[in-house]
Formats: sequence, C-alpha cells, structure tokens
Amino acid sequence: MMTPIAVVPGFDLWPQALDRATQEALIAAVLAAGEVAPFTHYDTPMGKPMSVAMSSFGPLGWVSDKDGYRYADRAPDGTRPWAPMPAALEDLWRELGDANIPADTCLINLYRGDARMGLHQDRDEADPRFPVLSISLGDTAVFRIGGTSRKDPTRSLKLASGDVCRLSGPARLAFHGVDRVIAGSSSLVPGGGRINLTLRRARAG
Ligand code: SIN
Ligand code: FE2
Repeated sequence: MMTPIAVVPGFDLWPQALDRATQEALIAAVLAAGEVAPFTHYDTPMGKPMSVAMSSFGPLGWVSDKDGYRYADRAPDGTRPWAPMPAALEDLWRELGDANIPADTCLINLYRGDARMGLHQDRDEADPRFPVLSISLGDTAVFRIGGTSRKDPTRSLKLASGDVCRLSGPARLAFHGVDRVIAGSSSLVPGGGRINLTLRRARAG
C-alpha cells in the first residue's frame, strides 16, 4: 500500500486504494451478507430508527436497540450468525489494521436516499489500541472528523468509492460522521447509494 495522506494525526487516508474489480467483488460479498443477515435499520437506545441500514461480516456484528449499542454473535432476530469475513478483508486488516490479531467484525453500513450518520465516537470495542479501518464503496460521502471532544473543531472531506481510511492512535476516539451522500456519484452499488465497511477488533486481543 502506498503512503497515506495524514488528514489529522491518527487519521490516515489512502485514496483509491481498491481497484474497480476489488470493489465489485466486495459489493457481491455485501449483497450475499444481506441474504444471510438482512440489512436492518436498528433503533437507537432512544428508540429512533437509524437512517443507515446495517449488517455485518465475521463472528461478531454491531447492533443497537433499546438496551444499547453492543457486539453480538448473531443478528437481533436471532436465528442465524453473520456472514463469514471475506478473505480480502482479512488481508487488508493484516496489512493496515493489525498484523497479528485478526479483525473479529466488519460492520456493513448501507446508505440509501437521505441516510446519514451523526457525529459519534466508536467506543464499543474492548481495546482502542486496535484501529478502525474504513472502506468506502459506491456514492461519495461528505465525511466529517473532529477531535476526541464533541466541542472540538471538525473538518470535512469527501470519501469516494475505493478509498480506505484508518482511525488510530490520537484519532481512534475522534468524533466522526457522514453529513450526506452525493447521489449518483458512482455506479457501483446496484440500486444506488453508498456502502461503508468498518473492520475492527471488538474483543480484547
Ligand atoms: C461509521 O462511522 O460507522 C461509518 C462511517 C462512514 O460511513 O464512512
Ligand atoms: Fe463510526
């Protein structure tokens, strides 16, 4: 992998890290994962449905409902485990995430229409020494990143299909979100929209 752009300390961006064939293969895996554990608009703990629909790859998946945010070994409807982690994602994690401890979850975020994601921290994982690796597929997102306090100034950048970014070190707990997705900016996702994959180690190493 080439040298990333250090957007802010700990937040690195590899523009166009994945070629079109790799992106298409990931979309096929995402659609298959949706057959195993259907895309769901989880409720926030406050009881409001999220505009982003989610599924996961791997032994664990991130879920949310009135009991809070957490990782679970199956979808909330209970019957089936998540789709297995694609080998290409395991390889990417080994290269840019952690060379020794495998990722145990990949959250699949599906943005259609006006879906967005409010400013938040990723803090449901046991050990923040592991980074979060993020892959953008499909329509371009207007992404926002700030500091570790909600009051810190933020900056906005576009994430296009094939871009990979990483939150680690001083940016691991940075507030971030997606202000909006630019409809029609990519033809990758059947039916339009954006897919974001976030690879993580949820359990302790
Ligand atoms: C997330 O913070 O979970 C998603 C970020 C993104 O969609 O780029
Ligand atoms: Fe996040």
